[in-house]
Amino acid sequence: MNITIYFCIILICTLSSTILCATNTDFQAFLTETKFTDYNKKIFPKETQSDQIIVSMKYSLIAINKLDEAHGQINLVGFIEASWTNDLLTAWTAGIDEIMIAQDNVWLPPISIQNTVETLQTLGYRSNKVRLNKDGTHTWKVGIVSKTSCKITMSHYPFDKHTCQLQFTPLGYLEDQIKLENSTSEIELTYFTENVQWWIDQTSISTSTINGASYLTFNLRISRRPGNVLINYSLPVLILCILSSLSYMMPAESGERIAYSVVTFLSLVIYITMIADNIPHSSSPITILSIYLTLMLVMSSLSMAMATLTLRVYSQEEATDIPLWLKHVTSFLKCQKGKNCCSKKKRKSKIGDNSDGWVDDEFDKDDDEESVTEEYTDWDEMQWKDVGGVLDWTFFLMFLIMTIVVAIFFYFPLAFAET
Ligand SMILES: *[C@@H]1O[C@H](CO)[C@@H](O)[C@H](O)[C@H]1NC(C)=O
Repeated sequence: MNITIYFCIILICTLSSTILCATNTDFQAFLTETKFTDYNKKIFPKETQSDQIIVSMKYSLIAINKLDEAHGQINLVGFIEASWTNDLLTAWTAGIDEIMIAQDNVWLPPISIQNTVETLQTLGYRSNKVRLNKDGTHTWKVGIVSKTSCKITMSHYPFDKHTCQLQFTPLGYLEDQIKLENSTSEIELTYFTENVQWWIDQTSISTSTINGASYLTFNLRISRRPGNVLINYSLPVLILCILSSLSYMMPAESGERIAYSVVTFLSLVIYITMIADNIPHSSSPITILSIYLTLMLVMSSLSMAMATLTLRVYSQEEATDIPLWLKHVTSFLKCQKGKNCCSKKKRKSKIGDNSDGWVDDEFDKDDDEESVTEEYTDWDEMQWKDVGGVLDWTFFLMFLIMTIVVAIFFYFPLAFAET
């Protein structure tokens, strides 16, 4: 028993040494062998020249260098591993199974990147090596720093997703001569270094035949990491808008209301300019974010205008009569606010029920009827100050709610849209 195992070990060792430990002379023998010296790389590597060669390829992505939104380009770093069978350089007599040899010595498929934005040329450099196997398989690894065109739609910035492609074709050959095939079903991401700006959503591979030539397309679907834009730009804009609606809460007598509005408005303008610089300058289609920002700007300026008008209300002489329509509007708004409608007595009785005050339901029938009757008792005593106070609350709530609703209305569809 022991002897058998011992024998086996010896046998395995001898076998493996013939495979792994080919000597210098073995390589010498290969290089001088007629199989190699008579080999002509200009000849299509098939015994029957009309046969088809199948080149199976794998693309490994190493890094996403840059996505140029304005020009619609993506710069990728990666490499392909292509393999095919060379019928003319196989079964040599030298005692080696594999040899690495400079690519200039053997036939190569003239693979090129079809959708490049640079010179359309075949891949590979002189220094690249090809691994020749005794069974005729040639394996070739080529590094690629590619710059390819990619259709970029920015409308959903900063939640935009893009599908970029890397399309290979054997330049000049038809499909019945060289056919490109995938050896994996996805792009290989083993060597990929995470990108700070982009996530890889998914990858896929497709083959196609266009005008008789074989194409192999690697699809890369990426989505932007929106955190930076949201935290640094969108959130401040939202906060500034909320702050700008707070200007109505400032006592009118302090005289700071306009200054405050203007300062928040200007800060908003600065932020919006900064975002606009960041958004790629393409106007077709326009980004939804810029529509949102413009809307925010419009709202903030409206709020500033209204703040100016409310100050006019406060500065009216008490002797001046309040126009009837303004009285109507004021009492209407006051009642819309609910429980503290018009009379102090009323409010007191309600506080016990509900500490929320005016936020309560406005559709309570009973309350409305009561308030309408009491409203008229206050009608003559109404002062400009009352009008101002009601307008302040109304505008404050209006702009606050509008800011939040608009933000939700824009960001939710943006974030969850399938583009
Ligand atoms: C080639 O790609 C197709 C489509 O993605 C896939 O179905 C197939 O399995 C892939 N071939 C290999 C050998 O992985």
